[in-house]
Amino acid sequence: MTNTGGPDVRKKDLRRPTIGVFDSGVGGLTVLRALVHHIPDADYLYFGDTARLPYGSKSAATVAHYAVGAIHHLQEQGAELLVIACNTATALALDDIRAASRVEVIGVVEPGANAASSASRSRRVVVIGTDATISSHAYRRALEARNVAVKEKACPLLVPLVEEGWIDHPVTEQVARIYLDEAFSADAREADVLVLGCTHYPLLKPLLRRIAPSHVTIVDSAESTAHDVARQLQIHPLPPSQEAERRVAPRLKFFATDSAEKFKKMGTRFLGLPVEDVLHVDLKE
Ligand code: DGL
Repeated sequence: MTNTGGPDVRKKDLRRPTIGVFDSGVGGLTVLRALVHHIPDADYLYFGDTARLPYGSKSAATVAHYAVGAIHHLQEQGAELLVIACNTATALALDDIRAASRVEVIGVVEPGANAASSASRSRRVVVIGTDATISSHAYRRALEARNVAVKEKACPLLVPLVEEGWIDHPVTEQVARIYLDEAFSADAREADVLVLGCTHYPLLKPLLRRIAPSHVTIVDSAESTAHDVARQLQIHPLPPSQEAERRVAPRLKFFATDSAEKFKKMGTRFLGLPVEDVLHVDLKE
């Protein structure tokens, strides 16, 4: 993990760490969902920049500016470790975020690339994401550094379809089919891994599983990131005598830059848990 110059969370007794999770909106709740599953005995602060999304069509400078403001807020609220759940923010602004952070920062691209590299036998992988993530070539760089050839494919229509709730809808299936046919064409026919390089895509996993070539393994960067965070925090399975402690519900607190009510409604669908404690925040430009 890159040293951010902040306190090393691995050396602290983070029996119950406070983990800050940042995303452009509600999509990052798929990452929070995976984190809560793997690290239930933690406190979570989630920041969704719902007033300024989508990030996927914005420039690196704008995304970095927004993200740095948000992570300052999470640190002021007590985050001891930051997870950048947003693929676009990780791809475009991870260096700026790390430079501005007092605490350790984990993005989603490296864990996703690691998992894809481990899963690929053919050493050829397809990555799908927003326009901005794909144009940044962040996944390409991370995978080529692991000797994996990459075909990148922007799938900008999938985010609005998921937000519409059309996760198992014929229109979404048709759109995804067009994207994947193109992604797995020509030199990418031998690709044996599909990386879901966007917060929203885990909700489409059953649909994508159905339409992706059957030999392809799907790597969900939300899951890979949660594994990585658990590893970084050196969280090991508890002995059976302490299992009850592990079952203590995680504490979740949310910040949204647009309406708290809207966040609650939409967030519950992405998190798969009730989203209750939401505060509206107004970040000064
Ligand atoms: N969170 C973004 C990502 O993972 C998708 C939504 C957006 O464009 O803001 O790339």
